Amino acid sequence: MSELRTLGEFIVEKQHDFPHASGELSSLLASIRLAAKIVNREINKAGLVDITGATGVDNIQGEEQQKLDAYANDKFKAALEARDQVCGVASEEEDEAVAFNKELNKNAKYVVLMDPLDGSTNIDVNVSVGTIFSIYRRVSEVGTPPTEEDFLQPGNKQVAAGYVIYGSSTMLVYTTGNGVNGFTYDPSLGTFCLSHENMTIPQDGRIYSINEGNYVRFPTGVKKYIKFCQENVPEDNRPYTSRYIGSLVADFHRNLLKGGIYLYPRTESHPKGKLRLLYECNPMAFLIEQAGGIATDGNQRIMDIKPTELHQRVPLFIGSTNMVKTVHRFLEQYPDEE
Ligand code: AHG
Ligand code: MN
Ligand code: MN
Repeated sequence: MSELRTLGEFIVEKQHDFPHASGELSSLLASIRLAAKIVNREINKAGLVDITGATGVDNIQGEEQQKLDAYANDKFKAALEARDQVCGVASEEEDEAVAFNKELNKNAKYVVLMDPLDGSTNIDVNVSVGTIFSIYRRVSEVGTPPTEEDFLQPGNKQVAAGYVIYGSSTMLVYTTGNGVNGFTYDPSLGTFCLSHENMTIPQDGRIYSINEGNYVRFPTGVKKYIKFCQENVPEDNRPYTSRYIGSLVADFHRNLLKGGIYLYPRTESHPKGKLRLLYECNPMAFLIEQAGGIATDGNQRIMDIKPTELHQRVPLFIGSTNMVKTVHRFLEQYPDEE
């Protein structure tokens, strides 16, 4: 790891890659970086302070909100609002998009969509969680409040996206459309340092990640793919392996480094899939494509889906190109009656 290149320096160095006014994105990413450090600090002492467990409130999607979900949401929102680049955010933890009304944000050009804490059922058991973010240029007029149209843009309009993984070490991984770079947090310095330059995912992999507890409720093509992985051995002669953490960020991060596929198909309880298009699937799709992989809903490219609602769910097949293509072959070969 190069302690000689910090995230802050890297962003400035790469500013010219960013198609629009560059200093703006640096400032925006600075707020995400700061909020990530604050959330990281809290997660690290989760067993010591009264921050684990549920708030007693359900979010709009009927999921139990954990205290750290609410904490992370507040910190990211506050950090974004404190700088003059963002006019509004949409979050898993907010029913509606939030418009920033301060004078400071009036001329802001960007909106941020986020999953402030991903994998929140893992908090209480000391397993990796994450934050996912997705950044768009607003389409409505600058100087007016952001509109629904600003938040419901297809993923192919993202200007930047990334995640933070709070794991055995904490990392921030992001793209602005010129490759993917990863930074590991050095707590002694309080700084993210460039550790994974120009990350790429192998075209083939051996890891498949899926909640197999839902097996009997999967589409036939997905069941056939799982059997294919169990019964066949890839060309490198090492059998497929199943790995599933239950935090998208953590499963994605491992597969990005090692090669693999993450699948969350539709199930009976989640007929449209479980993961949210705007702040889970799109940012991960942008990252995976930038790393040389692909992301689909089993039918079309995730980033080409035209969103219709803020908390829209879609099936997700994401990872090494050849693995996703193989799933597609099974889905085509074994179509289910809708
Ligand atoms: P969140 O904690 O933000 O609601 O996201 C949970 C997501 C994702 O991180 C994870 O991969 C998936 O839900 C796990 O779902 P299952 O428990 O149904 O496998
Ligand atoms: Mn999530
Ligand atoms: Mn979440």
